[in-house]
Amino acid sequence: MNTPITTLTGLVLLCALAGVTAAASAGGTDARIERGRYLAVTSGCNDCHTPGYLQGDGNVPVDQWLTGNPVGFQGPWGTTYPANLRLSLSQMTEQQWLAKARSAMRPPMPWFNLREMSDDDLLALYAFVRSLKPVGTPAPAYAPPGQAVNTPYFDFTPKNLPMTAKVGK
Ligand code: HEC
Repeated sequence: MNTPITTLTGLVLLCALAGVTAAASAGGTDARIERGRYLAVTSGCNDCHTPGYLQGDGNVPVDQWLTGNPVGFQGPWGTTYPANLRLSLSQMTEQQWLAKARSAMRPPMPWFNLREMSDDDLLALYAFVRSLKPVGTPAPAYAPPGQAVNTPYFDFTPKNLPMTAKVGK
């Protein structure tokens, strides 16, 4: 029954809930960005996507993080360059990001690690990258196997590999 007392209790509850929700979304945004920063660092995204990060023991200011790398990785797949994620993510909706993060990419991008992240973690990463300005230039274009490149690159050609992997059946 809707007595004045229950209505009043309901109103008080509603106000309390509204207060909690407002507090959660205000704090939640910062918390989400901070979680995204933590994930970017601990999942190794900077190692490849931030210029000089590997070579400089990770001492690169945040404003240069994930701006893409002109130093390529060359292997049997050709030569790939870690993309400028600041630009890439600035052009994606959350849904497009989730789809991209779950799709195959060329080596040595550990896309299968990204694929296993929860939606929450992926969206935290997204929020963090989008909280930084979309700056820099796109990374050099992919070069297929056998195509010479003028940029610096790491040689990722496997050598003296024991034949442990089965090829075919
Ligand atoms: C070992 C190096 C390496 C690491 C570590 C790495 N990436 Fe990459 N990433 C690459 C390379 C190289 C490419 C380009 C692949 C290609 O050309 O298909 C790439 C491409 C991408 C792309 C596609 C961008 C676009 O615009 O197409 C996304 C998204 C991405 N990486 C996200 C991440 C995130 C997030 C992390 C951390 C969890 C990460 N990467 C860690 C090397 C790396």
